[in-house]
Amino acid sequence: MFIHQHHLRHLLRPEHYTSEAQYRAELRHLFLPAWHPVATTGDLARPGDFLTLDLLETPLLLRNFDGHLRAFLNVCPHRHSKLTEKPCGNTERLRCQYHGWEYQEDGRTGKVPDAKAFRPWDRENACLRRFQVDTCGDLVYVKLSDGGPTLREWIGPQWDVWASYGGVYRHAGTWEKEFPCNWKIVLENSLESYHIPEVHPITFKAYPPEENAWHELTDRYTSFRTVQPVDLATRWTDWVVRRLGEPVTGEYTHRVIHPHATASTMDSFRMMQCVFPTGPATCRYRCIFFTLRGRRRNPLAWVLYRTLRTAATLVGKKVFAEDASIYGGVQKGMVASPHPGVIGTREERVYVFQKYVLENTRGATELQQIEPEPDQTGRTMNAEKARSEQYSELS
Ligand code: FES
Ligand SMILES: [Fe+2]
Repeated sequence: MFIHQHHLRHLLRPEHYTSEAQYRAELRHLFLPAWHPVATTGDLARPGDFLTLDLLETPLLLRNFDGHLRAFLNVCPHRHSKLTEKPCGNTERLRCQYHGWEYQEDGRTGKVPDAKAFRPWDRENACLRRFQVDTCGDLVYVKLSDGGPTLREWIGPQWDVWASYGGVYRHAGTWEKEFPCNWKIVLENSLESYHIPEVHPITFKAYPPEENAWHELTDRYTSFRTVQPVDLATRWTDWVVRRLGEPVTGEYTHRVIHPHATASTMDSFRMMQCVFPTGPATCRYRCIFFTLRGRRRNPLAWVLYRTLRTAATLVGKKVFAEDASIYGGVQKGMVASPHPGVIGTREERVYVFQKYVLENTRGATELQQIEPEPDQTGRTMNAEKARSEQYSELS
């Protein structure tokens, strides 16, 4: 059931999806304090494994030091070269590609070629910049700001769900793509089922009726839950899930932790999708996909696991491509739009997200202009929140 009964105001204006100032404010206030899922523990399984990536204008290097994961700025303190430009690999030591300075687990220098040329040694300024890194299940998370919440605090009450990315679910693949649109367009699309008939007419067909759609709305996260209709495909999937020794619930759940981390779960898979801004009107979307392996270890279970993995990956990539086909057109419309926009009750998670963005990137004056948010029942978000919490307790 939806929390709201009447349409809602589209709080963000088109310029929120195009302006450099808004982009900078979001980087600073939304993304720097957040944790970001960037890899799996399998990507860094062996001592010496490393990977590099660009995250929010920051080049990163993650490395396994004898079983300890560490994250560094991928920039050498000597003369600023990137330590490596390889996307991943395994090396005995962390060594800069330019003059060969070596670094230890704590970011301090190890061997420095011709070290006497640098006397007196400036220890503090020869240290790699470190970032916080932690794991939940088989996912590796990085945070770019110091202090702030731990990963457990950031994930909060959803910890058990996010920890299930691993265990009986196995990493099936990671794919990512750049899109010519503001990151909020991608995120907002993931927060509503309203677009299903137009964008996913074959894969999902129709959105669920309101009585089979449960929303949870809070300032920090929102969720959507539904029970899948029974058809040939779900019957086959349920049979496979049982054969792999796991319970069948038939539920699909989508959760977001603001600003950008979305977790989709079904009995047969776990999917973590995360969208990162790369500019005011560009973004990168990363999907880390797990499928059910189960606990049974026999030849049939292995064949079913491999078949499920192949089928689920094909469907997952098709849905990803269907959604991708719409983003560029929404961005072009934003640029030219004279309209205020409107949000329907089925899209109420979009409204909560937009409120979160405004609250965290604007001053009190602008916030006062949007508060209290009247939907046409006259309720405010506080009332909605109370109702949401009431729902949470009941479910
Ligand atoms: S820039 Fe890295 S060792 Fe010189
Ligand atoms: Fe979609």
